[in-house]
Amino acid sequence: MYIFSTIKETSDYLSRKKGQGLRIGFVPTMGALHEGHLSLMRRAKEENDLLAVSIFVNPIQFNNAQDLEKYPRDLAKDRALLEQVGCDVLFAPDADEMYPEPETTVYDFGPLEQVMEGASRKGHFNGVAVVVYKLFEIIEPDRAYFGEKDFQQLAIIKELVRKYKLPVEIVPCPIVREKDGLAMSSRNERLMENERKIAPKISQILKEAKTKTEELNPAELKIWVTEQFEKEPQFRLDYFEIADDTYLQTVENWNKNTGTMGFVAVFLGNVRLIDNIRFI
Ligand code: PAF
Repeated sequence: MYIFSTIKETSDYLSRKKGQGLRIGFVPTMGALHEGHLSLMRRAKEENDLLAVSIFVNPIQFNNAQDLEKYPRDLAKDRALLEQVGCDVLFAPDADEMYPEPETTVYDFGPLEQVMEGASRKGHFNGVAVVVYKLFEIIEPDRAYFGEKDFQQLAIIKELVRKYKLPVEIVPCPIVREKDGLAMSSRNERLMENERKIAPKISQILKEAKTKTEELNPAELKIWVTEQFEKEPQFRLDYFEIADDTYLQTVENWNKNTGTMGFVAVFLGNVRLIDNIRFI
């Protein structure tokens, strides 16, 4: 595996490979790699000639300084995992390399960024879009792989690619879960033992909610889900929304022609976890 920390060496190497006709599969990450990331990488490796991964804890997508500071970092462990999945190129820049000057780009994703994560974490998706656009310019991937746990991020990135006609195929990949159902996330590492024990309730509540779509309309189901989270005092629900799967806008009725999902963000202690489930 080649490990590069500068944009120049990364793009020189990868554009040479592209010139030789090799297809590049790319998995952007912020490190603290877990099985969820590794599943994206295995798929990218299988479907392309070269696997490129980036590890960069992107400061401009954090709206909370404490969250940025506490974000888990373990490059040595990550490198070992990358070797295991056969990563060909790791791009691990520092913040000065990515942002030599203060970043001023402002994207407009309309209603898509005004709900859920966009509403709760101001500026978050702009920061994600800035870094992903830059990474696509540097890596020039044929395909880029994103997990559906961050469903709204995936929708934003699809929109970024559509709007700017970026020559990359976005490949959505299903959520990878722990045996007890908890969606894998780098943030899970920060849960205290007692919080980790009740964390699987998040996916259990979502699964049970899915069984209630026959008897409850979306507004009633939202109330039911909120009540389930309130029963467990350690949870602090940030939001539960039932929305369409493209623009992520609230749906009022179940409609078999509208892909419809449930989205949740919940605090356990000071760790904020998200998850989602498809209803239709
Ligand atoms: O999902 C993530 O880890 C990050 O948001 C991403 C896509 C690597 C951009 O920093």
